[in-house]
Amino acid sequence: MNWKEIRRDFPLLTQHPDIAYLDNAATTQKPARVLEACRDFYEERNANPLRGLYDLSQRATEAYEQARETVAGFVNAHSAEEIVFTRNATESLNLVAFSYGSTLRPGDEILVSVLEHHSNLIPWQQAAARTGAVLKFIPCDPEGRITEADVRSALTERTRVVAMTQVSNVLGVENDIRRFARLAHEAGAVFVCDGAQSVPHLPVDVQALDVDFLAFSGHKVYAPMGIGVLYGRQELLDRMPPFLTGGEMIEYVTRESATWAELPHKFEAGTVNASGAVGLAAAIDYCREIGLEQIVERENALSRVAFEALSAVPHLRLLGAKEAEGHHGIFTFTLEGAHPHDIAEILSADGVCVRAGHHCAQVLMAHLGTPSTARASLSFYNTEEEIGRLAESLRTVRRRLGYAE
Ligand code: ALA
Repeated sequence: MNWKEIRRDFPLLTQHPDIAYLDNAATTQKPARVLEACRDFYEERNANPLRGLYDLSQRATEAYEQARETVAGFVNAHSAEEIVFTRNATESLNLVAFSYGSTLRPGDEILVSVLEHHSNLIPWQQAAARTGAVLKFIPCDPEGRITEADVRSALTERTRVVAMTQVSNVLGVENDIRRFARLAHEAGAVFVCDGAQSVPHLPVDVQALDVDFLAFSGHKVYAPMGIGVLYGRQELLDRMPPFLTGGEMIEYVTRESATWAELPHKFEAGTVNASGAVGLAAAIDYCREIGLEQIVERENALSRVAFEALSAVPHLRLLGAKEAEGHHGIFTFTLEGAHPHDIAEILSADGVCVRAGHHCAQVLMAHLGTPSTARASLSFYNTEEEIGRLAESLRTVRRRLGYAE
């Protein structure tokens, strides 16, 4: 695979060779092909999908529904009806927590892990507050690992929902979703998987994992911002009430009430983001052409380089796994005596983009006893040279803050 050539598919990276973009867990850059697909939608097929009876609107509908088929194939859903387009993973998880969550009763238990991004925590806090359900936490060890025993001891006969990330956006640790979903099912609970950080970097198969719901964002998988996905098992989605209401999600409306459209439209109120969906399908096709196995291999190789380079920086403490493989391209760290915001600003002055703060995971930060960190996160288009720039810049941070070494 010629990764140098692949990098040239990304206009922003080509136009800004001075930037070492290492904040891919926050969002990824977009290949020209995705930008062209969005533009092509507006230039050739733009009309309101699902509404018009004229040819242009039908072409818009076809493009939108074809994108749904592409997503369904990508995650191996049983059918395209199980794919709901949303704005992002956050909205997908809010949909499940609001809609499936409405079936919860006082005393029912919702289990989340301490690794969760706020998107897979606050919606469940709200569902618990609305219904009287109880929110409980599965702990992790200092490296972020959750064991089968941790999950078993948190499950009770009152557990109705287990909601867990596949890959932590802070530590990069991967949960054994297939095994934990089986445990949840044995306990009579549904399993909600936050795939925001896994879908861009690993092959994710909802049937093999046997999850009931999977949420992810398009923008982290090389597609535009503003398009997200919720996969849901059809028999569950069928029974769930709508989340947002209004146009296009209805079957029949009277002054007093309404009945709902078939799946997946019941969950897609208002005008949809058709160009975003088309862009997402183009991004998926692009990743498939490179090959998911090649992407995994490349990102693992870059992870090994980053792990070695960062481990050798004096005063740097890497959080999470003690070996490169456990990071999935995500490296969160502290540097003794340097505030993470100062680290990010100094790196920025050297053209290196990383994220600093609590990474929308304050419960995890509290569990680890570290209020904030800096985080570098990789994509297949990154280079060893960029990782070298990161490490070199980090070596200068303390000196630039006034420390002797
Ligand atoms: N959830 C994204 C991150 O971890 C935005 O940066």
